[in-house]
Amino acid sequence: MKQVVKAPHALDGEVSPPGDKSISHRAVILNGIARGDARVNNFAQSADCLATVACMRALGVEIESSKGGLVIRGVGDRGLKEAEDVLCAENSATTMRLLTGLLAAQPFLSVITGDRSLRSRPMDRVIQPLRLMGAQIWGRSNDSKAPLVIKGGQLHGISYTLPVASAQLKSALLLAALYAQGDTVINEPIAARNHSERMLRAMGAKIEVKGDAITISPSRLKAVDIIVPGDISSAAFWLVAGGIHSQANIRVINVGINPTRSGIIDVLNTMGANLIVENERMVSGEPVADLRAQSSQLSGMEIRGELIPRVIDEIPLIALAASLAQGKTVIRDAQELRVKETDRISATVKELLKLGADVEELPDGMIIQGRKKIRGAACESHGDHRLAMMLGIAALVAEGVTEIDNAEAVNISYPRFWQDLKRLSAAKS
Ligand code: S3P
Repeated sequence: MKQVVKAPHALDGEVSPPGDKSISHRAVILNGIARGDARVNNFAQSADCLATVACMRALGVEIESSKGGLVIRGVGDRGLKEAEDVLCAENSATTMRLLTGLLAAQPFLSVITGDRSLRSRPMDRVIQPLRLMGAQIWGRSNDSKAPLVIKGGQLHGISYTLPVASAQLKSALLLAALYAQGDTVINEPIAARNHSERMLRAMGAKIEVKGDAITISPSRLKAVDIIVPGDISSAAFWLVAGGIHSQANIRVINVGINPTRSGIIDVLNTMGANLIVENERMVSGEPVADLRAQSSQLSGMEIRGELIPRVIDEIPLIALAASLAQGKTVIRDAQELRVKETDRISATVKELLKLGADVEELPDGMIIQGRKKIRGAACESHGDHRLAMMLGIAALVAEGVTEIDNAEAVNISYPRFWQDLKRLSAAKS
């Protein structure tokens, strides 16, 4: 599907982003192995999270759709059943990596695969530490790529330092550790998103976080009802749209602002954005707020180090904001972007160059020289949801018309994205 977008005179209105993708995956997996029934409201009904639902159903968990969410009938810690067929995580690395940790500890055999993009992404980061716990897992390409064959069995706790800041890896190990003999200690030199830790604690797991060490003991979980906050990684598109459009006033409501995820707010504030955070509150153990983004004069900045995991999914969008900011922006230490749904460094640079931006590719990031204008062009999502949406936002300020090919990629995390874009563009200012 191709989307053709022309810059509107103004952007105005209120938008409620879809439920958080990371929290939705975890709510289904953890409640699936808990005792009791749980209601998950505002669940992200996007392709990635529906892949997790399909896999958990195939493993014997009853999951019903009910208005505004799901009801999950937990099978308890020993209740999962061998799936009759190959599990398919589709495009979702979170599904594949978290389930690999869980399945490594189950008394049966599993095979898990995904689409072409997911089958090209590194799985050795999960396989290696799980093997240290006693897991038997094999993959293609020297045990580094899916499909994966997992012969579940009894695991033992380990002490392990994460070689990459990855919440997917951390969460895979936490899931395996629930079933292991003895404690597992995970050292996390740079903090990645901590939704798993928060949810595990709320469900009664024995988990302790001290400095950069997470200690988890074998635990049984109790089902908990969860209201999923809106996804800050989806909200981010509107925050940047507000900042770069000259006539913008956008209210983004019900946004999760967990500090391990909220780097985009800090980046936009540092760049000088007119961004207001209001009505801060706690919802199901996660901080939530309403945000207001208005037209701004942005300036370039340097983004590297510990900030990177806090903005990891927003970097294509930050590169767009930087292209329209005053001065230079340097993004470093973001080599993880090369192993996302696409190589997001090269895809972002390629598409922004088409729009007339001044962007230079680095092995671990980009250098962007801000300029006042970008111009419409025929662009390509590379089948990557975040690229498709970044280009949609670019089109809101580009001169002339922008075409975005493979625009349906938004279904991975934000199926209503194009409708929301049209609605905010149509609003009278
Ligand atoms: C996610 C963690 C991040 C992020 C992804 C979702 C999660 O990946 O990019 O969109 O839900 O744990 P990594 O953990 O590989 O950095």
